[in-house]
Amino acid sequence: MTPSRTYVLAIDQGTTSTRAMIFDASGEVVAQDQIEHEQIFPRAGWVEHDPMEIWESTRRVIGGALGKGNLNSRHVEAIGITNQRETVVVWERATGRPIHNAVVWQDTRTQAMVDELAADGGLDRFKDVSGLPLATYFAGPKIAWVLDHVEGARDRAAKGELLAGTIDSWLVWNLTGGGEHDGEHVTDVTNASRTMLMDLRTLQWSEDLCEAIRVPMEVLPRICSSSEVYGECTPGVLAGTPVAGILGDQQAATFGQACLAPGTAKNTYGTGNFMLLNTGTEIVESENGLLTTLCYQLGDDAPVYALEGSIAVTGSLVQWVRDNLGLIRSAPEIEQLACSVEDNGGVYFVPAFSGLFAPYWRPDARGAILGLTRYANKGHLARAVLESTAFQTRDVLDAMQADAERAGGRLTELKVDGGMVANETLMQFQADVLGVDVVRPKIAETTALGAAYVAGLAVGYWSSTEQVEANWSEDERWTPRLDRADVERMCRNWAKAVSRTLDWVD
Ligand code: G3P
Repeated sequence: MTPSRTYVLAIDQGTTSTRAMIFDASGEVVAQDQIEHEQIFPRAGWVEHDPMEIWESTRRVIGGALGKGNLNSRHVEAIGITNQRETVVVWERATGRPIHNAVVWQDTRTQAMVDELAADGGLDRFKDVSGLPLATYFAGPKIAWVLDHVEGARDRAAKGELLAGTIDSWLVWNLTGGGEHDGEHVTDVTNASRTMLMDLRTLQWSEDLCEAIRVPMEVLPRICSSSEVYGECTPGVLAGTPVAGILGDQQAATFGQACLAPGTAKNTYGTGNFMLLNTGTEIVESENGLLTTLCYQLGDDAPVYALEGSIAVTGSLVQWVRDNLGLIRSAPEIEQLACSVEDNGGVYFVPAFSGLFAPYWRPDARGAILGLTRYANKGHLARAVLESTAFQTRDVLDAMQADAERAGGRLTELKVDGGMVANETLMQFQADVLGVDVVRPKIAETTALGAAYVAGLAVGYWSSTEQVEANWSEDERWTPRLDRADVERMCRNWAKAVSRTLDWVD
């Protein structure tokens, strides 16, 4: 017998942790569990995760969330997956053993490959087909790197012994049976659009891109929509439950924020920041350093596209200040420290740890703290840390506004979510720097919620996207109040600081 109240479970596999969240029909969180995983830095610029640790944590958080909610598989109508994007795993089809650690989206080891590819046609040579400029950020070259650097991997791939994919593929394959029960090897259009291997128009792997980037098509998953039943959980505590939704985490947050109409946008403050503007069924090519990407596709419906501004380092800068400088003991303490001073005291921090992403795309940049004088103290540094998130967001919003004018109108407000939106000082400064209202929703867990929505829509738990829109409501709004001339002066200083970080790496 089906229990009277049922739910949808979302797995949010992020850069630093894995969460399971169980939602009811109004979008409220009923129960959740979360486990952090190890960040592995084998050398400067390299970032890895252990795929087995991630799969283990996924199983544990599913059990943990069900336990906390006193629920079992009969209460769960569907599972949705959302994930850190561009992070790749290559594993053995027969055993499920990864042949290498996951190579994480922040990792810059593919720089030489990217330079070689760019030498023949420039950084934008694949942009028309894939929507992306050549950069170490994307997944396809990372798969090629693993195949090149693990002995025998290319031969094994040719024999069909290996599978590859982004984290969504790794999880769905394991959830639906893995090596023992012939798991489903799939991905969705949003994750596929981050590999630089998919044709944005056909939504299929491009033979030309796969050949140029040297990724054999046999290792790649089948590309599906973001909302359909891919398979059932086999075995495990949720055995028999359909896995019915996949969205890259930033697209999931866009969905969870109900940015379902063209012209609506959200900005997520996580490890990095990611602003997405829904451009509807139209593919808009950016003229200002943004990515063209898939926003979502519901079953057989026409795909919806987005423009994206990706910033590599925002929340992770606060963690760096905590872990590598020891300036604070916990991330939220940064706000208190920043508020111990009135302004940044002339200090600017450009966190170009992985080069600069949007809108600059400068892998040669490296981080810098500028404007130091004998007057500067740790409060000013904390303030500069927070402000760097706001300034980077302004750079992306400016690019988005310029592109948006062609795509149907300027943004008048920005929906925000993610860990750092609890920081009132940052949110007020963000509104000041952007010159538009910044709006936080009541249900803050937009990423997991977006994944739950697409899974629930696939199985009829929600009957239409109108319910998604009806569930969204405003919690808090910040309106610009700083003097515009002061803002512009600070933005000029910021631009000067950014220019000083370029050309650092030869
Ligand atoms: O593109 C990278 C992005 O998906 C990572 O998101 O939330 O894990 O920092 P997050």
